[in-house]
Amino acid sequence: MQILDGKLVSAAVKAQLADKVTELKALDKKVPHLAAILVGNNPASETYVASKVKSCAEIGFHSTLLRFDEKISEKHLLDNITLLNENADIDGILVQLPLPKHINEELVINAIDPSKDVDGFHPMNVGKMVIGLPTYIPATPYGIMLMLEHYNIPTKGKHAVVIGRSNIVGTPMSVLLSRNANPGNCTVTLTHSQTANLKELCLQADIIVAAIGRPNFVTADMVKEGAVVIDVGINRIEDASKKSGFRLVGDVDFNAVAPKTSFITPVPGGVGLMTIAALLKNTYNAASQKVNMN
Ligand code: GUN
Repeated sequence: MQILDGKLVSAAVKAQLADKVTELKALDKKVPHLAAILVGNNPASETYVASKVKSCAEIGFHSTLLRFDEKISEKHLLDNITLLNENADIDGILVQLPLPKHINEELVINAIDPSKDVDGFHPMNVGKMVIGLPTYIPATPYGIMLMLEHYNIPTKGKHAVVIGRSNIVGTPMSVLLSRNANPGNCTVTLTHSQTANLKELCLQADIIVAAIGRPNFVTADMVKEGAVVIDVGINRIEDASKKSGFRLVGDVDFNAVAPKTSFITPVPGGVGLMTIAALLKNTYNAASQKVNMN
């Protein structure tokens, strides 16, 4: 069993981007600038956004964090997105999800200029991803692809079982793994909470991507010997022994599953860090307009 080390791979991606920023600065060119919007005080969202902002600073990107009270009106939020769309200094925009219930997430995502949509959530970018055109790939599945690539994990002809069908992770992950590319070329089964024979499907999987948001959901009896297991879950469970009162566990019962696998991602220290690295790559591409938006 080998650990897929998100710390190591994300550091390599960030070092590459930091070098590019150094080059831009030497040429007196603008550095990439990410704008993040955080609505309310969801503790997990606060942590994620803080990490994104901190990572920008580490590699020399500019970032702007706009924080709004959870009672913000939909219109006020949309108006702020318009301002960011029109601000030529801002290259990438992300609105941290989830949003409060009174705000229509779809409207908000649709309001982001697709050329600045570094989360890759705008329907135009989702459509481009599905048909294999250059675009922004949602950060978590993109980060997982970078990880598979870094460790040269064979994917061609393999059976990948993706657990979870969210727009953010499961659905784009299933598309990327099935594409005619490397990594890619998997036969993909996209499963979810209503899948009847999940255990049987998982036992046939060469690669499992667990993104269902339930602590320790994937147990050892669901995993074939030698499988590659990617754990997307970041679940908070109470732990009185911790100063914060909680600890993070993945969607995979790591201690029981790890010995059966060929490769596995830990939580924390796995996919979460790759998500941020991928977001930074998207932001760099947005700034250098490498993504063809026509
Ligand atoms: N909430 C959970 N994951 C994400 C993500 O990748 N981007 C945004 N904007 N919100 C999220």
